[in-house]
Amino acid sequence: MQQQWQEVDEFLEHSLLVPDENLAQTLALNAKQGLPAHDVSPLQGQFLMLMVQISDARRILEIGTLGGFSTQYMARALPTDGKLVTLEKEATNAAIAHENLQRAGLLDKTTIIVGAAAQTLPTLQTQPPFDLIFIDADKQNSLLYLEWAIELSHTGSVIIMDNVIRGGAIVEAQRDVSANGIHQALSAVKGFETLTGTALQTVGSKGWDGFALFRVQK
Ligand SMILES: C[S@@+](CC[C@H](N)C(=O)[O-])C[C@H]1O[C@@H](n2cnc3c(N)ncnc32)[C@H](O)[C@@H]1O
Repeated sequence: MQQQWQEVDEFLEHSLLVPDENLAQTLALNAKQGLPAHDVSPLQGQFLMLMVQISDARRILEIGTLGGFSTQYMARALPTDGKLVTLEKEATNAAIAHENLQRAGLLDKTTIIVGAAAQTLPTLQTQPPFDLIFIDADKQNSLLYLEWAIELSHTGSVIIMDNVIRGGAIVEAQRDVSANGIHQALSAVKGFETLTGTALQTVGSKGWDGFALFRVQK
C-alpha cells in the first residue's frame, strides 16, 4: 500500500501545490546537512499553512523545529506583523533552520529558541498568548507539551499535534516511548475541560499516521 499512498501524494502535490524553490531548497539543505527526514510532507505543510490562514493566527508557537520546513509553511501564512516562535533542542538543527528561514526572507517573523522545550516553554509565559500551537517534538513529552499549549493559549486558540497514530502503534499493548507518550496525552484529553478535540488518521508519503486537532475554551 505504501507505494500507492506515495503515488497518490505525488498526484496531490502535482495537482494542488505550486512548486516553491525556497521550500525545495530547505529540504535539500536539510538532507545535505544529514537531518532526518522527519519534517511534515509538503501536503501536510500546506495543511498547516491553511490552518494559520483559516484561524487568522497572528502568533504561532511551534514545538520541534528540525530544519524549519513546517516553520516556513506556517510563517509565510502570517500577516506582516505576525510572529512565530519555534522551540528546538539541538543547536545544530536550529542553525540549519535559521539558514533556511533567512533564505526564505522569514527571519523578521520568526524566533528560534534553542533548548529542551520543558525548560524553554516556561519562559514564554511573559509573552501574549498564542493563537496556534503546533506540537511536533519528542513524543514522550506530548502530555507536558499539551498542558503548556493550553497554558500559553486563549479561548479560540488552535492546537495541532503531529504523529499521533504512528502506524497504529498507539494502541499496541507493548508501546515504545513515543507511542506511549501520544497514548498518554490523548487519554488525558477528556480530563481537560478547556479542550475540544479530534484526531484524524492519515496515509501518504509519510506512511500511516495522523494529526490531533484541539480548540481551547478558557
Ligand atoms: C519531528 S522533528 C520536527 C519537524 C518539523 N516540525 C518539520 O515538520 O519540519 C522533531 C524536532 O524536535 C526536536 N526535539 C526533540 N526533543 C526536543 C525537546 N525536548 N525540546 C525541543 N525540541 C526537541 C528534535 O531535535 C527535532 O528537530
